Amino acid sequence: MHVTFVDKLLVNVTTLTKDGLQQASQAIGIVGASIAWCGAMRDLPRDYQTSVPNVMDAEGKLLTPGLIDCHTHLVYAGNRADEFKLRLDGVSYADIARHGGGILSTVRQTRSVSEEVLLQQSLPRILALRAEGVTTVEIKSGYGLDLATELKMLRVAKRLGELSGVRVRTTFLGAHAIPPEFASQKQAYVDYLCHEVMPLVVEAGLADAMDVFCESIAFSRAETEQLFATAHALGLPIKCHAEQLSNMGATLLATKYQALSCDHLEFLDAEGATAMAGAGTVAVLLPGAYYFLRETRKPPIDLLREACVGIAIASDCNPGSAPTTSLLLMMNMACQLFSLTVPETLSAVTFQAARALGMEQQVGTLAVGMAADMVLWSTRDSAELCYYFGHCLAHQTMIAGVWI
Ligand code: NIG
Ligand code: FE
Repeated sequence: MHVTFVDKLLVNVTTLTKDGLQQASQAIGIVGASIAWCGAMRDLPRDYQTSVPNVMDAEGKLLTPGLIDCHTHLVYAGNRADEFKLRLDGVSYADIARHGGGILSTVRQTRSVSEEVLLQQSLPRILALRAEGVTTVEIKSGYGLDLATELKMLRVAKRLGELSGVRVRTTFLGAHAIPPEFASQKQAYVDYLCHEVMPLVVEAGLADAMDVFCESIAFSRAETEQLFATAHALGLPIKCHAEQLSNMGATLLATKYQALSCDHLEFLDAEGATAMAGAGTVAVLLPGAYYFLRETRKPPIDLLREACVGIAIASDCNPGSAPTTSLLLMMNMACQLFSLTVPETLSAVTFQAARALGMEQQVGTLAVGMAADMVLWSTRDSAELCYYFGHCLAHQTMIAGVWI
């Protein structure tokens, strides 16, 4: 049984499985904004070949799901090139943060600009991602750290989605740093987030999930637990910046709350990996931050593989640890720096990235009923998506059934 009408048909495409493996001689039929048929060319219903108004012969080229960047902080004002210079002189990221720079420097800049200026400064970043075939982007708040600026960031994130056509998922990250007005009153800030900010963010419908930076320079385990419990009570799924600079046991805590993802994970241990597997939590790896902060400890890929934890890769696009807008470059880095295979890397920016956002029923695979978000690349070999760095293959992107 098949639908009797599709309005677009792509024939002779090479597609990818959920595991990132190539499948040659496939076809995809689209109705409106969704995929209505997919399968092998030999199974293509005969009437499609004659009745479909819009047939495209891809001549074997690779068709991937639209790429998904599942961890970004791309809404921010200004930049931190001055801190980059300090780090080149040997000052550490953590030391810069302890002296009021780092995240707090971007907080000052983000608070001081209007919503319109914040939008104009952030728009080129989402457009740069889109230009590489990214069709879904997660955007975190966390450079406001007060109610008004957090709401401003989240509204800008939503407007970026409307302006670019990219699907945007927003994550509330009020627990990113301690703002100056709460200096040395961390508990009061956590209470403020839980009692005053989070309920209003949820009521405004501005967040799809909530994230906490659980780290010695940010929030402790106990503080993180209070924030997770509040999110849980408000019905917000959880994500966590976990085990980035040390092992805080953040992963064990996050998995207790069925976290969608734990991100960074350079200091993850076997117990944490097992807990992630048990909770179905995705490991989001951020090779750009590892590279830019000159980390030496890599996330434990073998532990993740042994425990069968899904691995996603994201840009972490932010002014401090990853001033990049190239997910393709992150894919090359995941292979080169973390030794991921090509299929693992492709799955990491499609199916696994969708899981990290709780969107796997909607995007990240080419299957019937999924959004018609896809990229047709000018190659037959998926390895080329990981092989080039700083170079983007020619391609065409479709979002919700429309070529952009
Ligand atoms: O993912 N780890 C915390 N947050 C960001 C960095 C933010 C910043 O430095 O502005 C990250 O690396
Ligand atoms: Fe991050």
